[in-house]
Amino acid sequence: MNLYIDTASPEQIRAADRLCSIDGVTTNPSIVAGTDRRYREVVETAAGITDGPVFAQVLAEDADGMVREARGYQDWADHVVAKIPATRPGFEALGRLRADGIPAGTTVVFTVEQAVLAGKNDATFVAPYVGRIDDSGADGLATTRRIQSIFDTQGFETEVLAASIRNTTQATALYEAGVDAITLSPSVLDDHVGAPETDESVAGFAADWGDRDPPLSE
Ligand code: E4P
Repeated sequence: MNLYIDTASPEQIRAADRLCSIDGVTTNPSIVAGTDRRYREVVETAAGITDGPVFAQVLAEDADGMVREARGYQDWADHVVAKIPATRPGFEALGRLRADGIPAGTTVVFTVEQAVLAGKNDATFVAPYVGRIDDSGADGLATTRRIQSIFDTQGFETEVLAASIRNTTQATALYEAGVDAITLSPSVLDDHVGAPETDESVAGFAADWGDRDPPLSE
């Protein structure tokens, strides 16, 4: 399973990498807009930190514009993967990019049907938006499990990349379901660490050890 960090912050990318050796970085226009840096700078900086894919979304809404932007992103770093929204122009752009060998996948996926179109287009990845699917009234986890099951059954090589994860309960359910990949916000990743019982136990070990000499002083 690949684990990506969903951020534009170099510090947060490095912190996540120290915690669990992340496999790449996802961004989206809202995340980049929240910084005072240019899109290219955000992507190039992330690409300088991780050897894994750096996912950068296109902003154009027409197929020609999407193709142009996805091609241009390749000049920023050779491991940039273009995120193409699951719209009609998006699927057309995806087919053209695939034909040209440009890495690109489908994002903002809300339905199993959209995911199947991505699979049939040999998308590099398909990203169901778990939290936003829940917000729409459907079941984000169930939709993502169905997509993973269909892709496994049909032999699609597209990576199922669960996105818009709101908490560790969703994340662990997806690990159990055998999802190909997941992207986590820094805060949800950080929530993987905390267990008060661990801190209490460690404090107990330290108390039992007391003022004895540390191991390396023997
Ligand atoms: C993934 O690539 C997206 O940037 C992200 O998971 C979206 O999450 P959100 O719905 O919390 O904005």
